Amino acid sequence: MDDAFEPHAASQTDRFLQDVLTGLAQTQKTLPCQYFYDEAGSNLFEQITELPEYYPTRTEIGILTRHATAMADALGPRALLVEYGAGASTKTRILLDALVDPAGYVPIDVSEDFLLQTADALKLEYPDLAVHPIAADFMVELGLPDHIDGTPVGFFPGSTIGNLSDGEIDQFLRAARRLLGPQSKFIIGVDLRKSPDILMPAYDDAQGVTAAFNLNLLRRINHDLGANFDLDAFQHEAIWNDEDSRIEMHLRSLKSQTVTIGTQSIAFAQDETIHTENSRKFDLTRLVDVIAPTGWTLRENWRDPRDFFAVLLLDAA
Ligand code: AVI
Repeated sequence: MDDAFEPHAASQTDRFLQDVLTGLAQTQKTLPCQYFYDEAGSNLFEQITELPEYYPTRTEIGILTRHATAMADALGPRALLVEYGAGASTKTRILLDALVDPAGYVPIDVSEDFLLQTADALKLEYPDLAVHPIAADFMVELGLPDHIDGTPVGFFPGSTIGNLSDGEIDQFLRAARRLLGPQSKFIIGVDLRKSPDILMPAYDDAQGVTAAFNLNLLRRINHDLGANFDLDAFQHEAIWNDEDSRIEMHLRSLKSQTVTIGTQSIAFAQDETIHTENSRKFDLTRLVDVIAPTGWTLRENWRDPRDFFAVLLLDAA
């Protein structure tokens, strides 16, 4: 390994360990959902997006395809597309193909390998497009490349906004507004509130891919932090929390057990759960109340015929 990368890798592992121990010390044990996405987790998530039960990805792609020209008209020429999370290149291509003379593409992602792969693929496909990847956590303060001249357009598809709390949405949108500037626009995909009969199977599919995705977090903790979670002693669970309008994912301990992580021992009672993810299903009026103080105004929203999903256009003006 290149020595230059070691301090970075060490501090990332320290941070991971700290986050895991902090989460597991709470009364309702929790683990932060951003740690789902190691290589195995990212591959499992790609499989989820193709499941018959998981409607969000194909519904959003349908909306983008149907309304790409209207979106491009609203965004105008010379857009500098700034994508938060670089995993959704199918959706990126739909927008890029519709945009009039796009100025550039700036994908931002913490996973550097994945980011560079996406950026290289797009450079080959769009040789005239300036592509400038940024390897960073998009919740922190960033700068845009000053050599690309265009109107910044944020792009945050997939309803990843639904994995954030109100406070995190506020922090994220304010940081994006500072980064993208007063002339900018923002395209955001949001999953809408709907019947639990549709939601539950999307997060507890018949093939067990979502269960494997959830349990992979324990496998990752074992692998990266030297823990000894017994993956057969925990079970995936999806719950619809109606009051908070969200699907919760949990891992239920099937027996009373003790797990060791480094020097720490963590006791689990039988049936105790670790809360691993919230996936919020939005009511647009309620979401606009969260967005309004952050410097963005909702200008337009495009939906599918079943009202399952909405693609929002926000304006910084
Ligand atoms: C990435 N995120 C928007 C997905 C979601 O639907 O909340 C993650 C996911 N979790 C379980 N299935 C998919």
